[in-house]
Amino acid sequence: MSIGKKSEAVKVVVRCRPLNKKEEATNQERIVEVDVRLGQVSVRNPKSSGSLLKTFTFDAVYDVGSKQNELYDYACKPLIDSVLHGFNGTIFAYGQTGTGKTYTMEGVPTDPERRGVIPNSFQHIFTHISRSQNQQYLVRVSYIEIYQEEIRDLLCKDNNKKLELKENPELGVYVKGLSSVVTKNIKEIEHVMNLGNQSRSVGFTKMNERSSRSHGIFVITIECSEMGTDGEDHIRVGKLNMVDLAGSERQSKTGAQGQRFKEAAKINLSLSALGNVISALVDGKSTHVPYRDSKLTRLLQDSLGGNSKTVMVATVGPASCHYDETLTTLRYANRAKNIRNKPKINEDPKDALLREFQEEIARLKVQLEERGMLAKERRRRRRNSMRMKRSISSGEVETPRDGEVGVVETVQEESVEDYWWKQQMAKTSANYKPDISRKLGIVDEKAKTVEELLKEQQSVEILIEKYKVSSFHTVFFLHADYTLNHS
Ligand SMILES: Nc1ncnc2c1ncn2[C@@H]1O[C@H](COP(=O)(O)OP(=O)(O)O)[C@@H](O)[C@H]1O
Ligand SMILES: [Mg+2]
Repeated sequence: MSIGKKSEAVKVVVRCRPLNKKEEATNQERIVEVDVRLGQVSVRNPKSSGSLLKTFTFDAVYDVGSKQNELYDYACKPLIDSVLHGFNGTIFAYGQTGTGKTYTMEGVPTDPERRGVIPNSFQHIFTHISRSQNQQYLVRVSYIEIYQEEIRDLLCKDNNKKLELKENPELGVYVKGLSSVVTKNIKEIEHVMNLGNQSRSVGFTKMNERSSRSHGIFVITIECSEMGTDGEDHIRVGKLNMVDLAGSERQSKTGAQGQRFKEAAKINLSLSALGNVISALVDGKSTHVPYRDSKLTRLLQDSLGGNSKTVMVATVGPASCHYDETLTTLRYANRAKNIRNKPKINEDPKDALLREFQEEIARLKVQLEERGMLAKERRRRRRNSMRMKRSISSGEVETPRDGEVGVVETVQEESVEDYWWKQQMAKTSANYKPDISRKLGIVDEKAKTVEELLKEQQSVEILIEKYKVSSFHTVFFLHADYTLNHS
Protein backbone atom coordinates (compact mmCIF):
# COMPACT_ATOMS: atom_id res chain seq x y z
CA MET A 1 0.00 0.00 0.00
CA SER A 2 1.19 3.52 -0.65
CA ILE A 3 0.14 6.79 0.83
CA GLY A 4 -0.52 9.30 -1.94
CA LYS A 5 1.20 12.71 -2.11
CA LYS A 6 1.34 15.60 -4.51
CA SER A 7 3.96 15.89 -7.23
CA GLU A 8 7.30 17.62 -6.83
CA ALA A 9 10.10 18.64 -9.19
CA VAL A 10 13.45 16.92 -9.56
CA LYS A 11 16.02 18.94 -7.63
CA VAL A 12 18.97 19.88 -9.82
CA VAL A 13 22.28 21.23 -8.54
CA VAL A 14 25.48 21.97 -10.46
CA ARG A 15 29.04 21.64 -9.24
CA CYS A 16 32.13 23.02 -10.92
CA ARG A 17 35.46 21.37 -10.08
CA PRO A 18 38.79 23.26 -9.87
CA LEU A 19 41.17 23.44 -12.84
CA ASN A 20 43.30 20.32 -12.84
CA LYS A 21 47.09 20.24 -13.15
CA LYS A 22 47.04 19.59 -16.87
CA GLU A 23 44.65 22.46 -17.49
CA GLU A 24 46.75 24.74 -15.33
CA ALA A 25 49.93 23.67 -17.10
CA THR A 26 48.40 24.49 -20.47
CA ASN A 27 47.11 27.84 -19.22
CA GLN A 28 43.49 27.02 -19.84
CA GLU A 29 41.15 29.92 -19.31
CA ARG A 30 38.32 29.61 -16.81
CA ILE A 31 35.06 30.12 -18.63
CA VAL A 32 32.61 29.06 -15.91
CA GLU A 33 31.37 31.44 -13.24
CA VAL A 34 29.30 30.34 -10.30
CA ASP A 35 27.07 32.66 -8.29
CA VAL A 36 26.25 30.67 -5.18
CA ARG A 37 23.87 33.30 -3.79
CA LEU A 38 21.71 33.44 -6.91
CA GLY A 39 22.10 29.74 -7.71
CA GLN A 40 23.43 30.61 -11.15
CA VAL A 41 26.10 29.22 -13.43
CA SER A 42 27.35 31.28 -16.37
CA VAL A 43 29.50 30.02 -19.19
CA ARG A 44 31.38 32.13 -21.71
CA ASN A 45 32.10 31.00 -25.26
CA PRO A 46 35.89 31.21 -25.62
CA LYS A 47 35.58 31.37 -29.41
CA SER A 48 33.45 34.51 -29.47
CA SER A 49 35.15 37.86 -29.08
CA GLY A 50 32.46 39.46 -26.91
CA SER A 51 31.88 38.63 -23.26
CA LEU A 52 28.42 37.20 -23.84
CA LEU A 53 27.51 34.73 -21.11
CA LYS A 54 24.96 31.95 -21.11
CA THR A 55 23.40 31.83 -17.67
CA PHE A 56 21.37 29.04 -16.03
CA THR A 57 19.63 28.97 -12.67
CA PHE A 58 19.47 25.84 -10.50
CA ASP A 59 18.29 24.79 -7.05
CA ALA A 60 21.86 25.26 -5.87
CA VAL A 61 25.30 25.67 -7.41
CA TYR A 62 28.70 24.76 -6.02
CA ASP A 63 31.92 26.57 -6.81
CA VAL A 64 35.42 25.16 -7.27
CA GLY A 65 36.12 25.46 -3.55
CA SER A 66 32.88 23.84 -2.41
CA LYS A 67 33.09 21.30 0.39
CA GLN A 68 31.57 17.83 0.20
CA ASN A 69 29.49 18.58 3.29
CA GLU A 70 27.90 21.68 1.77
CA LEU A 71 26.61 19.69 -1.17
CA TYR A 72 25.49 16.82 1.01
CA ASP A 73 23.68 18.96 3.58
CA TYR A 74 21.58 20.89 1.12
CA ALA A 75 21.16 18.59 -1.85
CA CYS A 76 21.10 15.12 -0.29
CA LYS A 77 20.36 15.17 3.44
CA PRO A 78 16.61 15.91 3.11
CA LEU A 79 16.31 13.14 0.54
CA ILE A 80 18.01 10.59 2.81
CA ASP A 81 15.66 11.64 5.62
CA SER A 82 12.74 10.95 3.31
CA VAL A 83 14.11 7.50 2.50
CA LEU A 84 14.33 6.81 6.24
CA HIS A 85 10.61 7.62 6.35
CA GLY A 86 9.71 5.23 3.55
CA PHE A 87 10.06 7.27 0.35
CA ASN A 88 12.14 6.14 -2.59
CA GLY A 89 15.04 8.43 -3.43
CA THR A 90 17.55 8.72 -6.25
CA ILE A 91 20.70 10.77 -6.55
CA PHE A 92 22.29 10.94 -10.00
CA ALA A 93 25.69 12.34 -10.85
CA TYR A 94 25.74 13.45 -14.47
CA GLY A 95 28.59 15.02 -16.45
CA GLN A 96 31.57 14.65 -18.71
CA THR A 97 34.33 12.23 -17.66
CA GLY A 98 36.77 13.87 -15.27
CA THR A 99 34.40 16.54 -13.97
CA GLY A 100 33.86 15.03 -10.50
CA LYS A 101 30.98 12.54 -10.59
CA THR A 102 32.87 9.88 -8.65
CA TYR A 103 34.45 12.52 -6.44
CA THR A 104 30.98 13.80 -5.59
CA MET A 105 29.34 10.41 -5.08
CA GLU A 106 32.20 8.60 -3.39
CA GLY A 107 35.06 11.03 -2.77
CA VAL A 108 37.65 9.82 -0.29
CA PRO A 109 35.57 7.71 2.11
CA THR A 110 38.26 7.61 4.80
CA ASP A 111 38.57 11.40 5.00
CA PRO A 112 35.59 13.10 6.71
CA GLU A 113 36.32 16.32 4.78
CA ARG A 114 36.46 14.67 1.39
CA ARG A 115 34.03 11.80 1.66
CA GLY A 116 31.23 11.97 -0.87
CA VAL A 117 27.49 11.49 -0.90
CA ILE A 118 27.50 7.68 -0.53
CA PRO A 119 29.69 7.45 2.60
CA ASN A 120 28.02 10.54 4.05
CA SER A 121 24.68 8.82 3.66
CA PHE A 122 25.98 5.83 5.68
CA GLN A 123 26.80 8.11 8.58
CA HIS A 124 23.42 9.77 8.36
CA ILE A 125 21.41 6.54 8.12
CA PHE A 126 23.08 4.70 10.98
CA THR A 127 23.15 7.74 13.27
CA HIS A 128 19.42 8.12 12.70
CA ILE A 129 18.84 4.44 13.43
CA SER A 130 20.94 4.49 16.61
CA ARG A 131 18.87 7.38 17.94
CA SER A 132 15.50 5.89 17.09
CA GLN A 133 13.40 4.61 19.95
CA ASN A 134 10.22 2.93 18.84
CA GLN A 135 11.29 1.69 15.45
CA GLN A 136 13.09 -1.37 14.21
CA TYR A 137 15.25 -1.02 11.11
CA LEU A 138 16.75 -3.33 8.56
CA VAL A 139 19.28 -1.98 6.07
CA ARG A 140 20.40 -3.91 3.03
CA VAL A 141 22.64 -3.04 0.12
CA SER A 142 22.94 -4.01 -3.53
CA TYR A 143 25.51 -2.76 -5.99
CA ILE A 144 25.02 -2.96 -9.75
CA GLU A 145 27.02 -1.97 -12.77
CA ILE A 146 25.51 -1.45 -16.22
CA TYR A 147 28.06 -1.65 -19.01
CA GLN A 148 27.17 -1.98 -22.69
CA GLU A 149 23.60 -2.81 -21.68
CA GLU A 150 24.68 -5.68 -19.46
CA ILE A 151 23.85 -5.73 -15.76
CA ARG A 152 26.42 -7.13 -13.33
CA ASP A 153 25.98 -7.80 -9.63
CA LEU A 154 29.03 -6.36 -7.87
CA LEU A 155 28.25 -8.19 -4.62
CA CYS A 156 28.15 -11.66 -6.07
CA LYS A 157 31.09 -14.03 -6.33
CA ASP A 158 30.28 -14.66 -9.94
CA ASN A 159 30.24 -11.01 -10.83
CA ASN A 160 30.64 -11.58 -14.54
CA LYS A 161 27.23 -13.17 -14.71
CA LYS A 162 24.78 -11.03 -16.62
CA LEU A 163 21.55 -10.39 -14.80
CA GLU A 164 18.13 -9.91 -16.32
CA LEU A 165 15.51 -7.28 -15.69
CA LYS A 166 12.05 -8.55 -14.87
CA GLU A 167 8.77 -6.86 -14.35
CA ASN A 168 6.04 -7.65 -11.89
CA PRO A 169 2.71 -5.80 -11.82
CA GLU A 170 2.96 -5.34 -8.08
CA LEU A 171 6.62 -4.47 -7.68
CA GLY A 172 7.50 -2.94 -11.02
CA VAL A 173 10.92 -3.52 -12.57
CA TYR A 174 13.60 -5.43 -10.67
CA VAL A 175 16.86 -7.29 -11.29
CA LYS A 176 16.30 -11.03 -11.08
CA GLY A 177 18.59 -12.85 -8.65
CA LEU A 178 20.38 -9.70 -7.45
CA SER A 179 22.27 -10.12 -4.17
CA SER A 180 21.63 -7.86 -1.25
CA VAL A 181 23.73 -7.71 1.88
CA VAL A 182 22.23 -6.93 5.26
CA THR A 183 24.39 -4.40 7.10
CA LYS A 184 24.13 -3.50 10.78
CA ASN A 185 26.47 -0.54 11.08
CA ILE A 186 28.66 1.98 9.26
CA LYS A 187 31.69 -0.27 9.26
CA GLU A 188 29.83 -3.09 7.56
CA ILE A 189 28.20 -0.96 4.92
CA GLU A 190 31.54 0.72 4.12
CA HIS A 191 33.06 -2.68 3.78
CA VAL A 192 30.37 -3.77 1.36
CA MET A 193 30.91 -0.63 -0.72
CA ASN A 194 34.65 -1.30 -0.87
CA LEU A 195 34.12 -4.90 -1.90
CA GLY A 196 31.77 -3.80 -4.65
CA ASN A 197 34.24 -1.21 -5.88
CA GLN A 198 37.00 -3.80 -5.93
CA SER A 199 34.80 -6.20 -7.79
CA ARG A 200 34.14 -3.52 -10.36
CA SER A 201 37.81 -3.48 -11.26
CA VAL A 202 38.49 -7.24 -11.38
CA GLY A 203 39.46 -8.74 -14.68
CA PHE A 204 39.31 -5.77 -17.00
CA THR A 205 42.37 -4.33 -18.61
CA LYS A 206 40.93 -1.00 -19.69
CA MET A 207 39.51 -0.13 -16.33
CA ASN A 208 39.40 3.65 -16.72
CA GLU A 209 37.61 3.45 -19.97
CA ARG A 210 35.17 0.98 -18.54
CA SER A 211 34.36 2.97 -15.42
CA SER A 212 33.80 6.11 -17.44
CA ARG A 213 31.44 4.24 -19.75
CA SER A 214 29.53 2.26 -17.18
CA HIS A 215 26.86 3.24 -14.70
CA GLY A 216 27.33 2.30 -11.07
CA ILE A 217 24.17 2.03 -8.99
CA PHE A 218 24.54 1.67 -5.24
CA VAL A 219 21.19 0.74 -3.72
CA ILE A 220 20.32 0.97 -0.03
CA THR A 221 16.96 -0.43 1.04
CA ILE A 222 15.79 0.69 4.46
CA GLU A 223 12.90 -1.06 6.13
CA CYS A 224 11.39 0.45 9.26
CA SER A 225 8.84 -1.22 11.45
CA GLU A 226 6.77 0.82 13.85
CA MET A 227 3.48 0.45 15.68
CA GLY A 228 0.75 2.48 14.02
CA THR A 229 -2.17 4.25 15.66
CA ASP A 230 -4.22 1.12 14.95
CA GLY A 231 -2.01 -0.82 17.37
CA GLU A 232 -0.58 -2.92 14.53
CA ASP A 233 3.03 -3.01 13.36
CA HIS A 234 3.54 -1.38 9.97
CA ILE A 235 6.59 -1.60 7.77
CA ARG A 236 7.72 1.28 5.59
CA VAL A 237 10.33 0.66 2.92
CA GLY A 238 12.48 3.35 1.32
CA LYS A 239 14.84 2.54 -1.51
CA LEU A 240 17.78 4.83 -2.17
CA ASN A 241 19.56 4.65 -5.54
CA MET A 242 22.89 6.43 -5.75
CA VAL A 243 23.99 6.55 -9.35
CA ASP A 244 27.40 7.40 -10.75
CA LEU A 245 26.52 7.73 -14.42
CA ALA A 246 28.77 7.05 -17.39
CA GLY A 247 30.64 10.08 -18.76
CA SER A 248 28.35 12.12 -20.98
CA GLU A 249 30.95 13.35 -23.51
CA ARG A 250 30.26 10.84 -26.27
CA GLN A 251 26.62 11.58 -26.36
CA SER A 252 27.16 15.29 -26.83
CA LYS A 253 29.47 14.66 -29.76
CA THR A 254 26.80 12.83 -31.71
CA GLY A 255 24.79 15.28 -33.70
CA ALA A 256 21.26 14.84 -34.96
CA GLN A 257 18.65 12.54 -33.47
CA GLY A 258 19.06 9.58 -35.84
CA GLN A 259 22.83 9.70 -35.90
CA ARG A 260 22.97 10.26 -32.17
CA PHE A 261 20.92 7.18 -31.53
CA LYS A 262 23.06 5.02 -33.81
CA GLU A 263 26.31 6.01 -32.15
CA ALA A 264 24.88 5.77 -28.67
CA ALA A 265 23.83 2.21 -29.39
CA LYS A 266 27.50 1.38 -29.72
CA ILE A 267 28.79 3.52 -26.89
CA ASN A 268 26.21 4.02 -24.23
CA LEU A 269 22.65 3.34 -25.08
CA SER A 270 21.47 3.83 -21.52
CA LEU A 271 22.81 7.36 -21.26
CA SER A 272 21.30 8.32 -24.55
CA ALA A 273 17.97 6.82 -23.49
CA LEU A 274 18.14 8.81 -20.26
CA GLY A 275 18.33 12.00 -22.31
CA ASN A 276 15.39 10.91 -24.45
CA VAL A 277 13.32 10.06 -21.38
CA ILE A 278 14.02 13.48 -19.88
CA SER A 279 13.08 15.17 -23.16
CA ALA A 280 9.85 13.22 -23.44
CA LEU A 281 8.93 14.00 -19.86
CA VAL A 282 9.42 17.72 -20.16
CA ASP A 283 8.47 18.66 -23.70
CA GLY A 284 4.78 18.51 -22.87
CA LYS A 285 3.95 16.91 -26.23
CA SER A 286 5.12 13.32 -25.94
CA THR A 287 2.50 10.80 -25.09
CA HIS A 288 5.10 8.06 -24.84
CA VAL A 289 8.11 8.06 -22.51
CA PRO A 290 10.73 5.61 -23.84
CA TYR A 291 11.71 4.03 -20.51
CA ARG A 292 11.96 0.62 -22.14
CA ASP A 293 14.73 1.73 -24.50
CA SER A 294 17.51 0.95 -22.02
CA LYS A 295 18.35 -0.98 -18.87
CA LEU A 296 19.15 2.17 -16.91
CA THR A 297 15.91 3.97 -17.71
CA ARG A 298 13.84 0.85 -17.07
CA LEU A 299 15.49 0.25 -13.75
CA LEU A 300 15.21 3.86 -12.64
CA GLN A 301 11.83 4.55 -14.19
CA ASP A 302 10.42 5.61 -10.84
CA SER A 303 13.18 8.16 -10.35
CA LEU A 304 12.08 10.03 -13.47
CA GLY A 305 8.45 10.99 -13.34
CA GLY A 306 7.43 8.29 -10.87
CA ASN A 307 7.37 7.29 -7.22
CA SER A 308 10.66 8.79 -6.05
CA LYS A 309 12.30 11.94 -4.82
CA THR A 310 15.16 12.70 -7.16
CA VAL A 311 18.27 14.87 -7.08
CA MET A 312 20.53 15.36 -10.06
CA VAL A 313 24.05 16.63 -9.48
CA ALA A 314 25.48 17.87 -12.77
CA THR A 315 29.25 18.25 -12.75
CA VAL A 316 31.27 20.52 -15.03
CA GLY A 317 34.89 21.55 -15.48
CA PRO A 318 35.92 25.22 -15.65
CA ALA A 319 38.38 25.06 -18.57
CA SER A 320 37.78 26.67 -21.93
CA CYS A 321 38.70 23.48 -23.82
CA HIS A 322 35.51 21.85 -22.52
CA TYR A 323 33.14 24.62 -23.55
CA ASP A 324 30.89 22.41 -25.69
CA GLU A 325 30.62 19.67 -23.09
CA THR A 326 29.95 22.11 -20.31
CA LEU A 327 27.20 23.84 -22.22
CA THR A 328 25.60 20.52 -23.11
CA THR A 329 25.66 19.39 -19.48
CA LEU A 330 24.09 22.65 -18.30
CA ARG A 331 21.33 22.40 -20.91
CA TYR A 332 20.66 18.81 -19.99
CA ALA A 333 20.49 19.68 -16.29
CA ASN A 334 18.29 22.66 -17.05
CA ARG A 335 15.76 20.43 -18.77
CA ALA A 336 15.77 17.91 -15.91
CA LYS A 337 14.51 20.67 -13.56
CA ASN A 338 11.11 20.37 -15.20
CA ILE A 339 10.57 16.69 -14.47
CA ARG A 340 7.87 16.16 -11.90
CA ASN A 341 7.73 13.08 -9.67
CA LYS A 342 4.99 11.69 -7.48
CA PRO A 343 6.75 10.32 -4.40
CA LYS A 344 4.79 8.46 -1.79
CA ILE A 345 5.55 6.51 1.36
CA ASN A 346 5.76 2.77 0.65
CA GLU A 347 3.87 1.10 3.44
CA ASP A 348 3.60 -2.64 4.06
CA PRO A 349 4.94 -3.80 0.69
CA LYS A 350 4.89 -7.52 -0.03
CA ASP A 351 8.66 -7.87 -0.25
CA ALA A 352 9.51 -6.53 3.22
CA LEU A 353 12.30 -8.66 4.61
CA LEU A 354 11.82 -7.26 8.09
CA ARG A 355 8.53 -9.10 8.48
CA GLU A 356 10.32 -12.41 7.92
CA PHE A 357 13.02 -11.43 10.38
CA GLN A 358 10.50 -10.35 12.98
CA GLU A 359 8.80 -13.70 12.79
CA GLU A 360 12.10 -15.49 13.15
CA ILE A 361 13.14 -13.25 16.02
CA ALA A 362 9.84 -13.94 17.80
CA ARG A 363 10.52 -17.65 17.44
CA LEU A 364 14.04 -17.19 18.80
CA LYS A 365 12.72 -15.13 21.67
CA VAL A 366 10.65 -18.10 22.77
CA GLN A 367 13.70 -20.34 22.36
CA LEU A 368 15.84 -17.96 24.43
CA GLU A 369 13.22 -17.69 27.12
CA GLU A 370 13.10 -21.45 27.33
CA ARG A 371 16.88 -21.57 27.61
CA GLY A 372 16.76 -18.84 30.23
CA MET A 373 14.19 -20.72 32.25
CA LEU A 374 16.30 -23.87 32.09
CA ALA A 375 19.38 -21.93 33.15
CA LYS A 376 17.45 -20.41 36.01
CA GLU A 377 16.27 -23.81 37.13
CA ARG A 378 19.80 -25.27 36.96
CA ARG A 379 21.14 -22.33 38.96
CA ARG A 380 18.43 -22.71 41.59
CA ARG A 381 19.18 -26.41 42.00
CA ARG A 382 22.90 -25.70 42.29
CA ARG A 383 22.34 -23.03 44.97
CA ASN A 384 20.03 -25.28 46.89
CA SER A 385 22.45 -28.16 46.88
CA MET A 386 25.23 -25.77 48.06
CA ARG A 387 23.02 -24.62 50.91
CA MET A 388 22.25 -28.21 51.79
CA LYS A 389 25.98 -29.02 51.87
CA ARG A 390 26.72 -25.95 54.02
CA SER A 391 23.87 -26.82 56.36
CA ILE A 392 24.98 -30.38 56.67
CA SER A 393 28.56 -29.37 57.51
CA SER A 394 27.37 -26.80 60.09
CA GLY A 395 24.78 -29.19 61.46
CA GLU A 396 21.91 -26.89 60.55
CA VAL A 397 19.17 -27.85 58.13
CA GLU A 398 17.88 -25.29 55.67
CA THR A 399 15.10 -26.03 53.22
CA PRO A 400 15.24 -24.40 49.81
CA ARG A 401 12.60 -21.77 49.16
CA ASP A 402 10.44 -22.05 46.14
CA GLY A 403 10.58 -19.42 43.40
CA GLU A 404 13.97 -18.14 44.54
CA VAL A 405 15.64 -16.03 41.85
CA GLY A 406 19.07 -17.27 40.96
CA VAL A 407 21.80 -15.46 39.03
CA VAL A 408 20.82 -15.82 35.42
CA GLU A 409 23.30 -17.21 32.95
CA THR A 410 24.73 -14.72 30.48
CA VAL A 411 22.57 -16.12 27.72
CA GLN A 412 19.63 -14.21 29.09
CA GLU A 413 21.47 -10.92 29.02
CA GLU A 414 22.16 -11.29 25.32
CA SER A 415 19.66 -9.49 23.12
CA VAL A 416 17.57 -11.59 20.79
CA GLU A 417 19.03 -9.75 17.83
CA ASP A 418 22.60 -10.56 18.92
CA TYR A 419 21.62 -14.13 19.42
CA TRP A 420 20.09 -14.20 15.96
CA TRP A 421 23.22 -12.80 14.33
CA LYS A 422 25.38 -15.33 16.16
CA GLN A 423 23.16 -18.08 14.87
CA GLN A 424 23.51 -16.79 11.34
CA MET A 425 27.28 -16.69 11.68
CA ALA A 426 27.44 -20.15 13.19
CA LYS A 427 25.39 -21.47 10.33
CA THR A 428 27.61 -19.72 7.81
CA SER A 429 30.81 -21.14 9.22
CA ALA A 430 29.27 -24.59 9.41
CA ASN A 431 28.56 -24.18 5.71
CA TYR A 432 24.83 -24.27 6.09
CA LYS A 433 22.65 -22.20 3.92
CA PRO A 434 21.60 -19.51 6.38
CA ASP A 435 17.99 -18.52 6.65
CA ILE A 436 18.88 -15.03 5.56
CA SER A 437 20.07 -16.41 2.25
CA ARG A 438 16.63 -17.55 1.34
CA LYS A 439 15.52 -16.00 -1.84
CA LEU A 440 12.98 -13.28 -1.27
CA GLY A 441 10.04 -15.02 -2.84
CA ILE A 442 8.56 -12.33 -5.01
CA VAL A 443 11.51 -10.33 -6.20
CA ASP A 444 13.91 -13.24 -6.39
CA GLU A 445 16.51 -11.31 -4.44
CA LYS A 446 19.22 -13.15 -2.52
CA ALA A 447 19.88 -11.58 0.85
CA LYS A 448 23.10 -12.48 2.61
CA THR A 449 25.17 -11.40 5.59
CA VAL A 450 28.43 -9.47 5.50
CA GLU A 451 30.15 -12.60 6.81
CA GLU A 452 29.04 -14.58 3.80
CA LEU A 453 30.16 -11.84 1.50
CA LEU A 454 33.55 -11.81 3.20
CA LYS A 455 34.00 -15.51 2.60
CA GLU A 456 33.25 -15.03 -1.06
CA GLN A 457 35.57 -12.07 -1.16
CA GLN A 458 38.54 -13.99 0.19
CA SER A 459 38.43 -16.16 -2.89
CA VAL A 460 38.08 -13.06 -5.06
CA GLU A 461 41.20 -11.59 -3.47
CA ILE A 462 43.17 -14.71 -4.27
CA LEU A 463 41.97 -14.34 -7.81
CA ILE A 464 42.96 -10.70 -7.99
CA GLU A 465 46.48 -11.67 -6.96
CA LYS A 466 46.56 -14.37 -9.59
CA TYR A 467 45.18 -11.97 -12.11
CA LYS A 468 47.89 -9.41 -11.36
CA VAL A 469 50.53 -12.02 -12.06
CA SER A 470 48.90 -13.22 -15.19
CA SER A 471 46.59 -10.54 -16.54
CA PHE A 472 47.17 -12.07 -19.92
CA HIS A 473 44.58 -14.76 -19.32
CA THR A 474 41.63 -12.39 -19.00
CA VAL A 475 38.12 -13.30 -18.04
CA PHE A 476 38.05 -16.94 -19.11
CA PHE A 477 40.84 -17.73 -16.76
CA LEU A 478 39.02 -16.03 -13.93
CA HIS A 479 35.86 -17.87 -14.65
CA ALA A 480 37.45 -21.26 -14.81
CA ASP A 481 39.32 -20.73 -11.58
CA TYR A 482 36.33 -19.40 -9.84
CA THR A 483 34.33 -22.44 -10.63
CA LEU A 484 37.12 -24.66 -9.36
CA ASN A 485 37.39 -22.76 -6.10
CA HIS A 486 33.71 -22.66 -5.51
CA SER A 487 32.30 -25.83 -6.76
N1 LIG B 1 34.99 19.34 -6.54
C1 LIG B 1 36.24 18.86 -6.62
N2 LIG B 1 37.22 19.31 -5.83
C2 LIG B 1 38.46 18.81 -5.90
N3 LIG B 1 38.84 17.85 -6.76
C3 LIG B 1 37.92 17.36 -7.59
C4 LIG B 1 36.57 17.82 -7.55
N4 LIG B 1 35.88 17.15 -8.48
C5 LIG B 1 36.73 16.29 -9.05
N5 LIG B 1 37.96 16.41 -8.53
C6 LIG B 1 39.14 15.64 -8.96
O1 LIG B 1 39.12 15.58 -10.38
C7 LIG B 1 39.49 14.28 -10.85
C8 LIG B 1 38.38 13.67 -11.72
O2 LIG B 1 37.23 13.47 -10.91
P1 LIG B 1 36.30 12.18 -11.01
O3 LIG B 1 35.37 12.25 -9.87
O4 LIG B 1 37.10 10.96 -11.15
O5 LIG B 1 35.54 12.46 -12.36
P2 LIG B 1 34.41 11.58 -13.07
O6 LIG B 1 33.94 10.54 -12.13
O7 LIG B 1 33.34 12.56 -13.43
O8 LIG B 1 35.05 11.01 -14.29
C9 LIG B 1 39.79 13.47 -9.61
O9 LIG B 1 41.16 13.47 -9.41
C10 LIG B 1 39.07 14.20 -8.50
O10 LIG B 1 39.70 14.01 -7.27
MG1 LIG C 1 34.01 8.44 -12.40
